[in-house]
Amino acid sequence: MQGLPVGAAKAIFAEAALYKKNRRNPEQLPLKGQTWAMIFSKSSTRTRVSFEVGIRELGGESLFLNANDIQLGRGEPIADTARVLGRMVHGAVIRTFAQQDVVDFANYAKIPTVNALTDDEHPCQILTDVFTYEEKRGSIVGKKVAFIGDAACNVARSWVYAAEYFKFNLVLAAPEGFESSVTNAHVKQVRSPEEAAANADLLYTDVWISMGKEAEAAERIKAFNGYQINSKLLSLAHKDALVLHCLPAYRGKEITEEIMTSRAEDIFDQAENRLHVQKGILHWLAHSRNA
Ligand code: CP
Ligand code: NVA
Repeated sequence: MQGLPVGAAKAIFAEAALYKKNRRNPEQLPLKGQTWAMIFSKSSTRTRVSFEVGIRELGGESLFLNANDIQLGRGEPIADTARVLGRMVHGAVIRTFAQQDVVDFANYAKIPTVNALTDDEHPCQILTDVFTYEEKRGSIVGKKVAFIGDAACNVARSWVYAAEYFKFNLVLAAPEGFESSVTNAHVKQVRSPEEAAANADLLYTDVWISMGKEAEAAERIKAFNGYQINSKLLSLAHKDALVLHCLPAYRGKEITEEIMTSRAEDIFDQAENRLHVQKGILHWLAHSRNA
């Protein structure tokens, strides 16, 4: 959401809804004749598949490049990788560790570059989450969103940016040492999951151990004890509250099996919406570049 022009999300959501409705009968192929590189340094199921399928459905081809299979993994600088790929492909989708690598890639490649998750942000996920909330409950403006768990992680940070962009109230509940380092007037940080959940319109969580944090697993499992979406926490939320999870989910940790089962329809609709919203993003990129 950082840097996304005002009105862009509205345009992206409108296209996403059309692509969702007309999935089997596409009228537009904005990526026809294009090849997009997908450079991934971390594991992925949803992001990889939704982008690869989405690029194909928009008429383009995708080239999956595991960072360890290209020279980048042996130490070739990101700037040189970008200068090479920028001369060969039409766009790039990048999942990596350092946010700066995505910025550097975009600057050196001079092609549309999409952040598919870094240590700092996961913007395509949160755009999808807001789309999913609005699809199911209407406008998110002024609503209360409760994030329970690792407020220092990429997903929470993108929620912070989204709160300002979309004008909703975000309450982050995290244990000491796992607060968000970024904030704004729409964000409140608390210790108590119950305080965050009280009267919330959306309850949201993410894994306790993000990719790259595996060495801290034992310490994190201890610290996040109690930061779980369960039926007791849900009973404090608004009676019509939605429960979403970016997935993958670890049952018995950040969410219970019971809630995953009872809210599966919404959570897997959310996962499906990655495809539609990202097609909206790619469409918007294709059109704003041609404008
Ligand atoms: N939510 C998400 O980004 O999932 P993947 O890691 O499977 O792409
Ligand atoms: N915070 C998680 C998100 C996974 C989609 C991670 O970075 O692993």
